[in-house]
Amino acid sequence: MIIKTFGDLKIPALGLGTWRLNGNTCKNIVLQALNIGYRHIDTADAYGNEQDIGRAIAQSGISRDDIFLTTKLPWEKLRGNEVIAAMRQSLDKLQTQYTNLLLIHWPSTQGVPVKETLEAMQMLKADGKIRAIGVSNFTPTLLTEALKHANILCNQVEYHPFLAQSRLLEMATENELMITAYCPIARGKVSDSETIKEIAETHDKLPTQITLRWLIQQKNVVAIPKTANPEHLKSNFDIFDFELSEAEMNRISGLNQGLRLIDPEFAPHWES
Ligand SMILES: NC(=O)c1ccc[n+]([C@@H]2O[C@H](COP(=O)([O-])OP(=O)(O)OC[C@H]3O[C@@H](n4cnc5c(N)ncnc54)[C@H](OP(=O)(O)O)[C@@H]3O)[C@@H](O)[C@H]2O)c1
Repeated sequence: MIIKTFGDLKIPALGLGTWRLNGNTCKNIVLQALNIGYRHIDTADAYGNEQDIGRAIAQSGISRDDIFLTTKLPWEKLRGNEVIAAMRQSLDKLQTQYTNLLLIHWPSTQGVPVKETLEAMQMLKADGKIRAIGVSNFTPTLLTEALKHANILCNQVEYHPFLAQSRLLEMATENELMITAYCPIARGKVSDSETIKEIAETHDKLPTQITLRWLIQQKNVVAIPKTANPEHLKSNFDIFDFELSEAEMNRISGLNQGLRLIDPEFAPHWES
């Protein structure tokens, strides 16, 4: 496993995404992931699976302190008092005293100033209920605003070979931020790329593995592929025994085509 360091936080570069995993399917795959060696789990209030993840972590017998756990606030409830209440519920469901990272899942759809939400998150941090504060789906402009009000660890955004995030990556370098890549394998579409397939053959790896390696080899980037398939779970984790050359990294970066897979009607104006 590659561990990324941000300030005094140590974060496993590869995590497990859990959107659309629920019930025992979710619990079992998280348990299997922990057995394989995953130590970074991504969930959200909106996924409706915090309870299942809590059960998996409890059953795994792995010390809570060895797991990097992220959850996200519901985007329609970002008023200060709502943030505190949502976190209490998340912690109950996750059966834990704290999460390592709490994210604003999407910029407020109700016009709540980000300052208010971040102030409540800072209170949670001061109370030991979260270790770090982050945002998700924030554009460069929104991120700039957020950085004025709190110490932000991360922006979780869609990032894969077909969707570049150049400005956010620059901001990550300038501000020592983590970019968490969601949809990191573009929901499997990377397996159709001739370029990625060619590089995969050179390394005797799969296109999905090449893509995950390309992401985590970037200094400020971590990735959270989702799978419900135990074989995929193992293969996604088998990316620590090879390295991509600079030329290979650049070839993959050259595949950008502005392909955005997640773009709900309440999304911010991405180019801002
Ligand atoms: N913050 C946000 O707004 C936001 C938005 C979207 C996602 N996310 C987070 O990011 C995570 C990942 O994103 P995502 O689930 O949308 O996309 P993804 O991880 O790029 O792709 C998941 C899809 O790829 C398949 N897959 C996984 N490993 C594979 C492999 N080795 N070979 C072939 N297919 C494979 C999965 O199917 P199988 O299950 O059959 O393997 C699933 O259909 C989410 O689960 C969630 O935690 C956050």
